[in-house]
Amino acid sequence: QQKVGLVGWRGMVGSVLMQRMQEEDDFAHIEPTFFTTSQKGSAAPNFANKTDNGEAGVLEDAYDIDALSQQDIIITCQGGDYTKAVYEDLRATGWNGYWIDAASTLRMNDDAIIVLDPVNNSEISTGIEKGVRTFVGGNCTVSLMLLALGGLFEKDLVEWASPMTYQAASGSGAKHMRELISQMGAIFDNVKTSVEDPAKAILDIDHQVAEFIRSEDYPSEQFGVPLAGSLIPYIDSQLPSGQSREEWKAQAEANKILGVSSAQKKEIPIDGICVRVGAMRSHSQAITIKLKKDLPVEEIEAILAAHNEWVKVIPNDRDITMQELTPAKVTGTLTIPVGRIRKLNMGPEYISAFTVGDQLLWGAAEPLRRMLRILLS
Ligand code: HSE
Repeated sequence: QQKVGLVGWRGMVGSVLMQRMQEEDDFAHIEPTFFTTSQKGSAAPNFANKTDNGEAGVLEDAYDIDALSQQDIIITCQGGDYTKAVYEDLRATGWNGYWIDAASTLRMNDDAIIVLDPVNNSEISTGIEKGVRTFVGGNCTVSLMLLALGGLFEKDLVEWASPMTYQAASGSGAKHMRELISQMGAIFDNVKTSVEDPAKAILDIDHQVAEFIRSEDYPSEQFGVPLAGSLIPYIDSQLPSGQSREEWKAQAEANKILGVSSAQKKEIPIDGICVRVGAMRSHSQAITIKLKKDLPVEEIEAILAAHNEWVKVIPNDRDITMQELTPAKVTGTLTIPVGRIRKLNMGPEYISAFTVGDQLLWGAAEPLRRMLRILLS
């Protein structure tokens, strides 16, 4: 069995990864070693549940290059700073194992492949044959968009796409998710008596909420500004292009996943505005697409539905859409619904689509464990 080192298994993405690995019985196929950045020597978690005496050994030091280099495969959800701290040193020892990473640090490196196997399985297989040893999960919005629209990209039907996102709090981290809940609760607590009094005028209640959201008492330490009762039209850092880094990733990563390197073929332009909204862990995106040709909506829907087993085309019907095409419905599942597909007034090649996906599952953990299984097969 392959020796697999697991780093960052305790964090939010790591916990979702461990859960999925248990559900899919991945631990039965590996010899796991759990690494830690702070608790070397403590008992390791028994996710694998496979030792006779019920013990899972001890945690190894995640900064111990020697211990890391004993592994055939390392999967890390520890974050970009960790990758920066150990990856080069580990490779410098001549370690030739597989590095599977959730962080963006190595994503755009020429010798790394962004993994999203329902979309780029052939890139992955070719890469393995050519000796690629570094596989990185994509940005969540990019992966979720490509799973939803994979059929159109696969058939080379997309001239350009403009995703406008509605991203959940989970993309910022666990503390941010907690803060969103605190913000929602604090708003209600602040106006509870007024809300429960039917005689109270709604504009007075609204005024009170607005004052509170802008006050020092409203909890906004993590986000820096209000999210509940508001939104944040900027995600990640600012770039000279005027894009946020999150917006920049859409075209750069999607084209890399699709195997369109800017050197050989023309990149598909993909650009839009990324917005944080008060959803918990499912990202949504409204996408305007210019197709290369005029196709009937039914044909577009059929192409999308046939691409992979997780995408689910939702008919452009009010009631079904309100039930099926929301973060509330999708959260905690691997389903990628895509709906609101219709022709736009701009012309017959212009279509709209709306898609939702769990940011922690297909957006982060799932492509990593699937990459592991590809390496083990
Ligand atoms: N950058 C994403 C977000 C999460 O902030 O929602 C990580 O892919």
